[in-house]
Amino acid sequence: MSGPSEPYIGRAVPSTTTFKDNIFAGKVIFATGGGSGIVYKMVEAVMRHGASAGIMGRKVDRLTSAAQSLSDTTRQKCIPTPGDVRNYEDVVKAIEATVKQFGRLDFVICGAAGNFLAPIENISPKGFKTVIDIDLLGTYHTVKASLDHLKKSHGAYLHVSATLQYTGIPWQAAPSSAKAGVDALSQSIAVEMGPFGVRSNVVAPGMIAGTEGADRLTPKGGEDIIATRIPLQRVGEKDDIANMAVYLFSDAGAYCTGTKFVVDGGSMHFPGPWLPYPDS
Ligand code: HXC
Repeated sequence: MSGPSEPYIGRAVPSTTTFKDNIFAGKVIFATGGGSGIVYKMVEAVMRHGASAGIMGRKVDRLTSAAQSLSDTTRQKCIPTPGDVRNYEDVVKAIEATVKQFGRLDFVICGAAGNFLAPIENISPKGFKTVIDIDLLGTYHTVKASLDHLKKSHGAYLHVSATLQYTGIPWQAAPSSAKAGVDALSQSIAVEMGPFGVRSNVVAPGMIAGTEGADRLTPKGGEDIIATRIPLQRVGEKDDIANMAVYLFSDAGAYCTGTKFVVDGGSMHFPGPWLPYPDS
């Protein structure tokens, strides 16, 4: 059995021009964790299609410069709203500042996350709780503070989850537990809020290049080796996840709710990340 040969469609870079430019004109998005990484790119993609934005994060300098560069690159307005998702009042303030600025709220990305590698025997109760508080409680806070606005606009949630919890991965007990909770919360929102016209979905990224998650979980220089174990033969790009956000917030995704969209190049279906393809 030989490995895949060139040209190979799976190696195509993602396009952000698949959708019409103005599909989100007049819409407003709010995102936690929007100051960097995958969520920054998701917000940028939605703004490129016409939306205004409020982003929330803990690091004020990084958040402020992210909002500025989002505004500059998309020519839409993005406001920084600093805060910690573990503090409900911070989340309320950030969402209300966004609604005050733009007059409405249509889309919410729950993206703030915390992660560290630790054997289950060594995680302290405070360490475990810290991750649950950021990922799961922070998501709940964001949903609670925004739900009335989304009921008004018939809006949509997108939760940034992971694939860790679908299989179990060593040294990731806390984030796996937290993300399983996020998946469940999204499904609850979908079934309770569907009759009000509010949708809720999960995007579960695999290994995405240039992210804090990849930095924390991958040995230095390990991305090339990992790529050979992924069916589509590449590590993901932030734009792969950003495009899923555009799709799910657009009318093209109007019948999708309560679903988990795994975007991982097929990694979850490979019979073990430690085994190479037979001839590669
Ligand atoms: C063991 C650790 C630890 C480590 C922290 N803790 N780091 N335990 N190993 N490496 C424990 C501490 O010892 C402490 O418990 C408790 O966690 C709280 O630590 P603090 O540093 O006080 O918390 P805080 O300042 O709030 O920091 C939160 C954090 C931190 C998550 C722990 O790492 C952080 O802020 N990270 C930035 C955000 C982030 O992680 N982004 C990556 C997301 S990627 P004790 O008992 O000792 O006091 C992601 C992707 C997942 O989520 C999927 C990937 C595929």
